[in-house]
Amino acid sequence: MKTNHTAETASGRNSDRPRKILLTGATGFVGRHLMESWKQRNDKIFAIATNTAPVKSVAPAYITLLDMDIVDEMSVAILFEKIQPDIVVHTAAMTKPNDCEQDKESAFETNTLATKNIAECCKKFNSQLVFLSTDMIFDHPFASSESDDKKPVNYYGETKALAEEEIARSGCRAAILRIILVYGKLLKASRGTFLHWVKDSLEQDKEIFVYTDQHRNTLYVNDLCAMINHILDHGNTGFYHLAGEEIFTPYEIAVKVAEHLHLDTRLIHPVTSGQRPEIARRAAYSVLNTHKAKKELGFVTTPFDVALRESFD
Ligand SMILES: NC(=O)c1ccc[n+]([C@@H]2O[C@H](COP(=O)([O-])OP(=O)(O)OC[C@H]3O[C@@H](n4cnc5c(N)ncnc54)[C@H](OP(=O)(O)O)[C@@H]3O)[C@@H](O)[C@H]2O)c1
Repeated sequence: MKTNHTAETASGRNSDRPRKILLTGATGFVGRHLMESWKQRNDKIFAIATNTAPVKSVAPAYITLLDMDIVDEMSVAILFEKIQPDIVVHTAAMTKPNDCEQDKESAFETNTLATKNIAECCKKFNSQLVFLSTDMIFDHPFASSESDDKKPVNYYGETKALAEEEIARSGCRAAILRIILVYGKLLKASRGTFLHWVKDSLEQDKEIFVYTDQHRNTLYVNDLCAMINHILDHGNTGFYHLAGEEIFTPYEIAVKVAEHLHLDTRLIHPVTSGQRPEIARRAAYSVLNTHKAKKELGFVTTPFDVALRESFD
């Protein structure tokens, strides 16, 4: 992977020319927010998912939606040939760690092999790649920096760590954004987040059991979209960690959601991972150091309480 290009030369950006952006993960939480954030862009946007039907009626009209399985190498290669995208924002993935643990073959195909194919296509057509990786490539008792050794905490993390290596091997121009526990407003036809699961459960008077022994930072989706859009405009490449300043346990987040929405906090039961283990292991301390993104991208984060209010406006 090439790094440290300057904005104009790296992106080949000619500000007068609308560019072709290919988004994978059109129906995902991040993908939906990105599409909304592109309303003002003078670019031609193509967005794919295995089934775009759920977003057909709500996606902005300036976006061309296409049904495609990214695991199907041939279809992806034909799409690249046809579109020849300037930029590819690759958010599609098998994102649930427990599912990845239970179906390793699909996780490897979707998260690693499909990303390898996309990166090689990017190299062939000189497209800039923006790839979303995860904090779960680390299992450190300290805040992880971009140059730290990878140590995947579970199979999902492993597939993403391998994907990062395939991107580097392809030699394409790429920005790899390692992100963590994303939250924000629930857009129509979008998947929910941990915060929405808490809200929905409590609204239905369901008891929930939430961990007190996992510490992590979170990332407001608007802050993530702002950084992706910065990269689209400036052509930055390399690894960047993106996360908010504050560190919480899932239990603390659940209580904050309940208090903000005036829901019954007594339904939230504090538990440890030992008491109710998940199928895929999670790190006890998963925190991303964002110093590099602040310095090089001007990354600014919204305080959790402000973002929480905006998420449930
Ligand atoms: N959300 C987080 O907290 C978080 C944290 C760290 C990293 N990330 C990374 O950020 C990215 C975006 O996450 P997200 O929360 O937006 O994910 P998400 O809501 O689970 O959405 C995943 C998207 O990927 C698509 N997809 C999955 N398999 C596909 C396939 N074989 N072919 C085509 N499309 C496929 C899905 O479309 P279909 O349903 O149509 O298949 C969906 O649009 C992911 O790469 C994830 O690993 C997310």
